[in-house]
Amino acid sequence: MSTPRTAVYPGSFDPPTVGHLDILARALHSTAFDNIVIAIVRNPNKKSLFTIDERAAMLREAFEANPALHDALNAGRLQIDAFEGLLVSYAKAQRATAIIRGLRAVSDYEYELQMAHMNRRLFPGAETLFFMARDEYSYVSSRLTKEVAFMGGDVRGLVPENVYAALMAKVRDAGV
Ligand code: PNS
Repeated sequence: MSTPRTAVYPGSFDPPTVGHLDILARALHSTAFDNIVIAIVRNPNKKSLFTIDERAAMLREAFEANPALHDALNAGRLQIDAFEGLLVSYAKAQRATAIIRGLRAVSDYEYELQMAHMNRRLFPGAETLFFMARDEYSYVSSRLTKEVAFMGGDVRGLVPENVYAALMAKVRDAGV
């Protein structure tokens, strides 16, 4: 039996957006990988809105509404995990041969290029593969979604429905 082709899809996912789910679905559909591990970064230096457990639970719940992602999760082709420290150390431990990243706009490119080069230098065994965000999601980011939601703007449709509910609950809890 050949070695499974495992890809790691790292990110903050604070919170997961429709863009994240779209990249995941397309990466699975591409059949380039046997397994994808969603790796939520644990960064003690970065203030986050949702805990790691909340983010993992939101992803899991969002997959329920998406048959392809739901099936992949049940089949073990999709896993949700968290990591701390260097991404490449985690990728190596997972025996991953690929790192998946989404690219939205030219503004993403410079940062992503640097990370891809650095990660390849540290761990040449994993290639960074980019998926272009759909044009309709090209402006969607976790950061902007939070900012708009906390300022009373409508973010429905930019995040999965369950994430929207969780985000609105945070807005209410904050008394905004
Ligand atoms: O969703 P994000 O915040 O754009 O994801 C960034 C992430 C998690 C991919 C990046 O910050 C990362 O890889 N962090 C782990 C620490 C690390 O390996 N740093 C060196 C990157 S070259």
